Amino acid sequence: MTTEPTAPPPDLTKRPERGDELDLRIESLAFGGNGVARLALGDRGYVVFVRGAIPGDRVRARVTKRKRDYAEALTLEVVEPGPDRIAPVADHPGAPWQVLAYEQQVQIKQGQVDDALRRLGRLDGFELEPIVPAVEQWRYRNKLEYSFGVDEAANLVCGFHAPGSWSRILHVEDCLLASERGNAVRRGVFEAVRAMGLGAYDRRTQQGFLRNLVVREGRRTGDVQVRLVTSPGEFDEDAFLAAIEPLAVQSVVWTQAAGVAETTQGGRDILLAGADRIAEELSGMRFALSAEAFFQTNTEMAEQLYGVANEYAALRGWDRVYDLCCGIGTIGLTLAPRASEVIGVEIVEQAVIDASANARSNEIDNARFIAGDVRVVLKDLAEADGPRPDVVVVDPPRAGLSKKVVARIAEASPKRIVYVSCNPTTLAPNAAQLVEAGYRLARVRPVDMFPQTPHIECVALLERA
Ligand SMILES: C[S@@+](CC[C@H](N)C(=O)[O-])C[C@H]1O[C@@H](n2cnc3c(N)ncnc32)[C@H](O)[C@@H]1O
Repeated sequence: MTTEPTAPPPDLTKRPERGDELDLRIESLAFGGNGVARLALGDRGYVVFVRGAIPGDRVRARVTKRKRDYAEALTLEVVEPGPDRIAPVADHPGAPWQVLAYEQQVQIKQGQVDDALRRLGRLDGFELEPIVPAVEQWRYRNKLEYSFGVDEAANLVCGFHAPGSWSRILHVEDCLLASERGNAVRRGVFEAVRAMGLGAYDRRTQQGFLRNLVVREGRRTGDVQVRLVTSPGEFDEDAFLAAIEPLAVQSVVWTQAAGVAETTQGGRDILLAGADRIAEELSGMRFALSAEAFFQTNTEMAEQLYGVANEYAALRGWDRVYDLCCGIGTIGLTLAPRASEVIGVEIVEQAVIDASANARSNEIDNARFIAGDVRVVLKDLAEADGPRPDVVVVDPPRAGLSKKVVARIAEASPKRIVYVSCNPTTLAPNAAQLVEAGYRLARVRPVDMFPQTPHIECVALLERA
């Protein structure tokens, strides 16, 4: 009798190699949402972070990256599902946590905020308040960025990157994180560019035209902006506009991006039709937003997030407020009616122009916005030797604040710092530095802005001790 030759199983007493297939039992979830498995190597074991796996799962996974202290792997097959795994609602790479019940998702997020602050920040004595659950568990995003690519038969597709792949795009028909209208617009634009015979950009060969499609909605105004991101080149703008006319969108922008990296930021924007900005309503105000300006992607939950920031800021009518990393001014402008003065600082110039326009259109005359790097602007404000802020609100990107910026905030010596964070692992060291500088971490409240994903948002209140 002959037997099929099979690849020998990897030696689990050695560090795995890239490409190895491992049989792993998942112990816990890491920040960022990957499952954690441990190989019995050395004294402390060797950790493998497994994408697409949850605690209790036994999975077959392929190693995608190997480092000295850890490896990363992608789930190929769930051999035995963990006790908490539920059936997914949709095949959607942007919703990896849909295999966990929603109640469990929020419980894990709450626990991860606590863990980050205590373990990474070595902080204690603060009140961790219950997470604010999301209003909508699906179709909550007001902005989706899709990628163009090709399928196995070289047909044009538009959707999301396959998990762990920078080149393979999975076509999407109904994105359950977008509204029905947002989906209809994506389908309409996709049909238009396909009918025009346009091809997808291939980063390996650096050939091809279509890169990304950004669909952004004002959920409460009905405004929709279509932004087509392409390589530099020519295309028949009139034919494109005619083809998408039935979609009746309020703004059509064409962005030409030259680099190899996949980004929808920093290209050359050309307004093809309609207005250059769309409007959204939030906290009783109306905001205009430019294509490249940041705006919270979950409108309903942004309102709740700002509500928490407002509560923690506890303004009394005469406070001077800095709104750092202010985007189009949303937090500062919602605080302005209870402040004496608001100064917003933001690095994206167009967002600052939007913020000033938003102040005017909402008839707020005690807010001004400065374009620049928060590190430099804080130094300038300190050197100008004007009155100091009573409250600093800061809402940085995922990387958090540099030590220098944290030091400058502490030097400004506000009574309260309201830190809005989209990453508890960077909030933790920043908050620890502020505690070192004489602040007390008083309260923290997570807010679930991103159901079905591992992303965590929270607001922290630090008070001058
Ligand atoms: C998470 S967003 C928050 C925006 C706004 N607070 C909101 O709620 O919509 C972070 C913002 O920080 C800005 N930013 C990033 N680095 C910055 C820097 N060094 N100085 C000033 N702003 C910065 C980004 O452009 C972005 O608008």
